[in-house]
Amino acid sequence: MVYRMHKLIFKRLLPIELLPDVAMRLLFTALRLSGPMFHGITAWILLIFLIIEKRSMLSWRRLWNLYRLCSATSLPEGCFVECGVARGGGVAMMSLAARGKRTVWGFDSFDKMPVLTAEDEGDGDEWVGHSCSGANGKQEAARTLSRFRLDSDDTHLVAGWFQDTLPQHVDRIVPIAVLRLDSDWYAATRYCLERCYEQVAVGGVIIIDDYNTFLGCRKAVDDFRAQKKIDSPLIATERGTEVYWYKMESPVAVRSAA
Ligand SMILES: C[S@@+](CC[C@H](N)C(=O)[O-])C[C@H]1O[C@@H](n2cnc3c(N)ncnc32)[C@H](O)[C@@H]1O
Repeated sequence: MVYRMHKLIFKRLLPIELLPDVAMRLLFTALRLSGPMFHGITAWILLIFLIIEKRSMLSWRRLWNLYRLCSATSLPEGCFVECGVARGGGVAMMSLAARGKRTVWGFDSFDKMPVLTAEDEGDGDEWVGHSCSGANGKQEAARTLSRFRLDSDDTHLVAGWFQDTLPQHVDRIVPIAVLRLDSDWYAATRYCLERCYEQVAVGGVIIIDDYNTFLGCRKAVDDFRAQKKIDSPLIATERGTEVYWYKMESPVAVRSAA
């Protein structure tokens, strides 16, 4: 009897492949009811779908941390930026947290992982040539956004190597409230910091996905922070594999203001 009911509901009335769509509709109804509590629940539902449907390489802790930091920003304005998008799960979380009030930017080659440089010391070699976004490139990330109805005129996916795309867009992505770097190697991480850090507003947050996963990523961050004399503490998530810090007034600016 129970088996028949189950079969009737899930095979005939509500085929399993429709379940995500039904859930999505419920999710966005909940979103429209708004209120911080409903929004938090919506974020959890989205997160679970992103994990189940493999739309992100991030763990649930990182996805939640991203949503939390974006939602909790005290900056009245500022966009959310991710460099290293792959299938777009991180951008989807940012887009949900933006609530249509902020612009979201995702940059990625949507190509294969580039070769390492000397600074990476061979760490991550097994990932070189791997495509994180899959055969359909940018379309995969676009599909993630449309799947969860998070595609809007305020969410931009930019395809190409950072060296080519960031210079073209850097004047439009200012100020940045949350900058998330997830490009793994020294050269890309350092380049994104060089190009985007100035755009981050004081009080904004910089998240580094692979600080304690890849040697090159860590070195890029340490070198950049040492060069810019950044002493804002690194805050660890997930046993320190991911870190973030808040941009503070530079010591020079504080001194001259006093
Ligand atoms: C680990 S994946 C990003 C995962 C993603 N944040 C998610 O939510 O699943 C790293 C991405 O960085 C991109 N990438 C690495 N170096 C790059 C470069 N120099 N320019 C553009 N994209 C790059 C790769 O194409 C890849 O999609």
